[in-house]
Amino acid sequence: MAIRKIREIGDPVLTKKCKEVTEITPRVQELIDDMFETLYEADGVGLAAPQVGILKRIVVIDVTGEDPILLINPKLMETSGEQEGYEGCLSVPGKSGKVTRPNYAKVMAYDENMNAFELEGTELLARAICHELDHLDGQLYVERVKGPLVDTTELMEEEEE
Ligand code: NI
Repeated sequence: MAIRKIREIGDPVLTKKCKEVTEITPRVQELIDDMFETLYEADGVGLAAPQVGILKRIVVIDVTGEDPILLINPKLMETSGEQEGYEGCLSVPGKSGKVTRPNYAKVMAYDENMNAFELEGTELLARAICHELDHLDGQLYVERVKGPLVDTTELMEEEEE
């Protein structure tokens, strides 16, 4: 396993539409392992393959640090409700912005054996699912932000007050 370099906003790879995975080759398995390692090293909640420069429809998410989720070729099946909150992205370091997302999301995806499964999430997990799926279609959250991007450190200070 290896830590991969996280691509940052301005890198054209982040604006491209990713291709479906058709087979779990050793290279794809290595990519998945590296994505989890890179996610944990960066202390993130989610990471999509284009963020490490690979245009494949693969997403890793872990909202608690103990619940790794792998989504291959994920498709959003259902959303409901609404939540407004600050969101950040490993490809936009140090910044946060307010984004409205569904409060519930259901996806269909494949696991590392290419078996289909469904995943439902609310709150932070629903936000992470929607954020990461956007990456697979070349969209960054900054395009959905209401108001200005703020420094994440300022935001944390505000919350402490
Ligand atoms: Ni992101």
